[in-house]
Amino acid sequence: MQKLLKKPSINYFYPSSIVMVSCIDKEGRPNIITIGAVGIMCAKPPIVGIAVAPERYSYSLIEEQKEYVVNIPSSDLVKKVDYCGTHSGRDKDKFKETGLTPQKAEVIKTPLIKECPVNLECKVKDIIHLGSHSWFIGKIVAVHVNPEILDERGNIDKDLASPFVGFQGGFWKLDKLK
Ligand SMILES: Cc1cc2nc3c(=O)[nH]c(=O)nc-3n(C[C@H](O)[C@H](O)[C@H](O)COP(=O)(O)O)c2cc1C
Repeated sequence: MQKLLKKPSINYFYPSSIVMVSCIDKEGRPNIITIGAVGIMCAKPPIVGIAVAPERYSYSLIEEQKEYVVNIPSSDLVKKVDYCGTHSGRDKDKFKETGLTPQKAEVIKTPLIKECPVNLECKVKDIIHLGSHSWFIGKIVAVHVNPEILDERGNIDKDLASPFVGFQGGFWKLDKLK
């Protein structure tokens, strides 16, 4: 069958990992932004990137403090993920409004989100300005894992971690194929 040819667009890229990124302002006040444009960029050194639009409140915080935490949510947190992606830290304290708990990090000043089972502390190595979004390239400087999501061999258990992805504006859990 002949495929339809569409205009170049990100709308046909699916699914997306969805994470909550924590960051802080100059006074150390924390904020959370939901990010779907996130990805592993390098294994050695371990690098994870996030694409942030300059109009986001979080943008200047991450640009100025040069650090952020990638917090990986479990599916029970989906409403809070949605809240942090639809409200701005300019006018809301998202930790307070969602009831999420800031937890002291190991290496950087930005707090982790305690309720997320995995947290990657990142230091900004580079920023690439591309247009509507800039990529913050973050070196992972510490990793936190809730032992309750690990199986007996120490690997992340899918059912315990309960990951989900973004697809067509919704959030979806995963089914094993193989
Ligand atoms: C599922 C989802 C994914 C999102 N992904 C991104 C993203 O990758 N980059 C971005 O700049 N904004 C993204 N957003 C929008 C921001 O999370 C949203 O504008 C947020 O309110 C910004 O918060 P802030 O102003 O406190 O920084 C996403 C929103 C949702 C709901």
